[in-house]
Amino acid sequence: TDYNLLLLPGDGIGTEIMEEVKRVIAWFNDKTDLTFTYEEDLVGGAAYDAHGAAVSDATMEKALSSDAVIFGAVGGPKWDGVPYDVRPEAGLLRLRKDLKLFANLRPAICYPALADASSLKRDVVEGLDILIVRELTGGVYFGEPKEITDIGNGQKRAVDTQVYDTYEIERIAAVAFDLARTRGNKVTSMEKRNVMKSGVLWNEVVTATHKATYKDVELEHMLADAGGMQLVRWPKQFDVIVTDNLFGDMLSDVAAMLTGSLGMLPSAALGAPDPTTGRRKAMYEPVHGSAPDIAGKGIANPIAMIASFAMALRYSFELTRQADLVESAIAAALDKGLRTGDIAEAGAPTVTTVEMGTAILTE
Ligand code: NAI
Ligand code: MG
Repeated sequence: TDYNLLLLPGDGIGTEIMEEVKRVIAWFNDKTDLTFTYEEDLVGGAAYDAHGAAVSDATMEKALSSDAVIFGAVGGPKWDGVPYDVRPEAGLLRLRKDLKLFANLRPAICYPALADASSLKRDVVEGLDILIVRELTGGVYFGEPKEITDIGNGQKRAVDTQVYDTYEIERIAAVAFDLARTRGNKVTSMEKRNVMKSGVLWNEVVTATHKATYKDVELEHMLADAGGMQLVRWPKQFDVIVTDNLFGDMLSDVAAMLTGSLGMLPSAALGAPDPTTGRRKAMYEPVHGSAPDIAGKGIANPIAMIASFAMALRYSFELTRQADLVESAIAAALDKGLRTGDIAEAGAPTVTTVEMGTAILTE
């Protein structure tokens, strides 16, 4: 089989860390019978400089026809003054919107070698491997009405509206259950059915989806506030957490801090399955940004980017063994003590982006 990728390195450290993904791809093409083909294109500030748009129509076409998009990072001070609708971040938003990526996957993995970097105790996080599935295109961030109005007496009223339709909950629940089957086979659904109608419907639809199609997966319901508490108290009780846009935004940031550094965190955004191939539209990207403060120095941590590629292997191509291989190579490089600046203890020796990439390749 051929796997077609679109690589969009973007700006700042995006281009530096994408080079390490290209070396991992070359390794697979060279050493295994898999063939990854890819095209590379501009996005963000780099695309604005070339075409006056943060992502061109031609690039969008390529994104729509590729099996998976691997995205670096966009933005930087150079583009602070550009018009709002063509600013670098607009490229990312257009990709998410046009690919209809409604499911955001944020894993929280704690490599044993970095357990002491976590904000929690070692025994609480060591070996942690959970996945938060956040609904990304609905809920209170998009619901109408959304406004601030004058209500007299010098008072204003702000209104945001939480809206979820059955189909939106069904499809995100299906993503979570499908993913759980490839992992620990457990889903925890989080909402606030005690105070929100959207929580009542969320709970009902997740339960019905489970009953109809996913009885083999363990399902648990938890109120989102209690879930936040449990995430910090004993995160290893979870496998897959599925939740709405707002709760998912907060819970995934909490989970991120369980693991240590921003330079370590991959993510994915998935859309609906293609009717002919069954493959979901997908984009994989590190959680961090373009890190202008260290760009061009060759010292960025490539792990979040390489781990994002591993997620593509796992979730777009069902290459589970190969994804495991990449992730265990990352763990092995860390076990050997290799550290980029962002994950090194103060005063300890550090390696460059390329050195970390090489160490991962040779594991
Ligand atoms: P940032 O994530 O780029 O950097 C925050 C801090 O973490 C910096 O000190 C940076 O050096 C460090 N850092 C981040 N990734 C690292 C890595 N791989 N290795 C080592 N250190 C790393 O966030 P910041 O500074 O708020 O934003 C910088 C630019 O990136 C802005 O233009 C922002 O809009 C953009 N951005 C883009 C995102 C994306 O493309 N998805 C996401 C977040 C921010
Ligand atoms: Mg957030």
